[in-house]
Amino acid sequence: MKRLPEPELMDQPDQARAYADADFSEPNALFVDLFAAAFPDFAQGLVADLGCGPADIPVRLVDRYPRARVIAVDGAAEMLKLAAEAAARADRRRQIETLHWRIGAEPVPQRLRGAAAGIVSNSLLHHMSDAGALWRAVRDCAAPGAAVLVMDLLRPDSPEYAQSLVDLHAAGAPEILRRDFHNSLLAAYRPDEVATQLRQMELAGLKVEQVSDRHWACWGRI
Ligand SMILES: C[S@@+](CC[C@H](N)C(=O)[O-])C[C@H]1O[C@@H](n2cnc3c(N)ncnc32)[C@H](O)[C@@H]1O
Repeated sequence: MKRLPEPELMDQPDQARAYADADFSEPNALFVDLFAAAFPDFAQGLVADLGCGPADIPVRLVDRYPRARVIAVDGAAEMLKLAAEAAARADRRRQIETLHWRIGAEPVPQRLRGAAAGIVSNSLLHHMSDAGALWRAVRDCAAPGAAVLVMDLLRPDSPEYAQSLVDLHAAGAPEILRRDFHNSLLAAYRPDEVATQLRQMELAGLKVEQVSDRHWACWGRI
């Protein structure tokens, strides 16, 4: 099935709120478990979360790694507001800083350049109008030997299968969320496409694999 891109930023208040209110505990717990399994030595340092959305993953990361700090980056002011609220609710404001950065359109913020011991990103790649911009951001933020984990949705073979994934995983969810999920599945990349991007960006040392019925993940050290 041909990829159908969707808009980059999630900056509509109702869209951001519906996303923040949704239950992503299963994929987000999977994300943190994958990071822990891929980097058993990781314990502390600065982590950049690219396209952090409402910051559920940053909160889970600092729960798992109490000596880590996260800079939670998003290009949508509306999402960053919700991210700051989530960090405050979890009493993690000292460990989670929010940062406005539209990746690909704005230069790398000085304090992230070559600074991150960990770089994570979930469900951002399929939003990017230029996929290469995400991989450049990963490279630009990485301190030597940085631990990288990028996960995203996987484009199904057909619109019908995409719909069945929506019905399975978002049954009873608000319509706005079901629509966004469906559009995201159609906009997602497949693992072989990601592998090609990694080769083009000279990041072929990162490994990419399917990790659920609707996700791939890519990880390694750079
Ligand atoms: C589907 S959400 C994922 C949020 C979060 N990572 C999660 O797993 O719940 C994608 C997020 O990426 C942000 N985003 C999209 N394009 C971006 C860009 N070019 N630079 C920074 N953030 C971007 C959107 O605003 C949105 O908050």
